[in-house]
Amino acid sequence: MSEFKIALIKGDGIGPEIVDGAVKVLDAVSAKFGHKFEYTDVYMGGCAIDKFGTPLPQETVDICKASDSVLLGAVGGPKWDGCKERPEKGLLGIRKALGLYSNLRPSILKPQLKEASPLKDEKLKDGLNVMVVRELTGGIYFGERRNAEDGSWASDEEKYSVEEVERIGRIAFETAMLRGKRVVSVDKANVLDSSKLWRRTMTELAKSYPEVELTHMYVDNAAMQLAIAPAQFDVIVTSNIFGDILSDLSSAIAGSIGMLPSASLGAGKCGMYEPIHGSAPDIAGQDKANPVATILSAAMMLEMSFGLAEEAKAINEAVDKVLDMGYRTPDIYSEGMKMTGCAKMAELIAENI
Ligand code: IPM
Ligand code: MN
Repeated sequence: MSEFKIALIKGDGIGPEIVDGAVKVLDAVSAKFGHKFEYTDVYMGGCAIDKFGTPLPQETVDICKASDSVLLGAVGGPKWDGCKERPEKGLLGIRKALGLYSNLRPSILKPQLKEASPLKDEKLKDGLNVMVVRELTGGIYFGERRNAEDGSWASDEEKYSVEEVERIGRIAFETAMLRGKRVVSVDKANVLDSSKLWRRTMTELAKSYPEVELTHMYVDNAAMQLAIAPAQFDVIVTSNIFGDILSDLSSAIAGSIGMLPSASLGAGKCGMYEPIHGSAPDIAGQDKANPVATILSAAMMLEMSFGLAEEAKAINEAVDKVLDMGYRTPDIYSEGMKMTGCAKMAELIAENI
């Protein structure tokens, strides 16, 4: 039996419902495979502003650092729009504090969800299975921010060092070695100096991975290519902001942003696992959210941070089985399917472990 400490950041909006769903599934895994998961609830985001007056209390950072991994729901909402520090600042802060520079966002079109994709069948006939490798602790998200005193202008800085590009590049090439051995590096090198550095560094790094084919794409073209020929991609590696945008696009093509998990990792084994969607305050507390992205994030945690590949596979198979049985949350509903709430969806998946 193995024991793992998991910090839970339920967060705001639908965060608590979807994390509760993932915990149900993790408990089913622990019952079946005989592991012990010890959960500690910590506050981050809007709920932390309400309780402690800051989106990222030090205690949260300390507990996350002392855990084997972190499972996060979502943060933010209009309630905190006027606050001096927004809930999202907590999210960026924890990514930085844990050194999680690499964000892996897989988008896979499941055959059961073809109907939910906005693309026509002809565009989907070769499927979609892309891993977006997003740089997570640099670029414009963390560059210098400046504001005119009179509010007449504001600026954000996009800055990358060779070292930052190299370390995310290595993750992308190594990920590709385990998949289709193709990396598309996405930038805007026809305009931005930071992108020129990005492209030069990726090109140099590719020499250490002779088996992997590296190509470059401008971000505007990459967005278009995802929409017209999504099957061409294996691994996409890109900056913080481009990765944010392209991963929403690739998830929509896969059917719903409510389905897609992510892993954020740094130098060690401890990672943070979260759905790529937001806190959806409009449907919070109504049992309408899709818990699958969070449940699949928990599966990524088992595999990538705990080395429990078989257990992760059991979760993925249980999700597929429940989809095969026709159960659908509202975001992935199509005619003839069984409309299911958040809690029931998670229960069904837990029962099928
Ligand atoms: C994401 C989110 C965050 C981001 C927001 C909430 C700060 O959109 O994880 O993709 O932009 O990184
Ligand atoms: Mn995003």
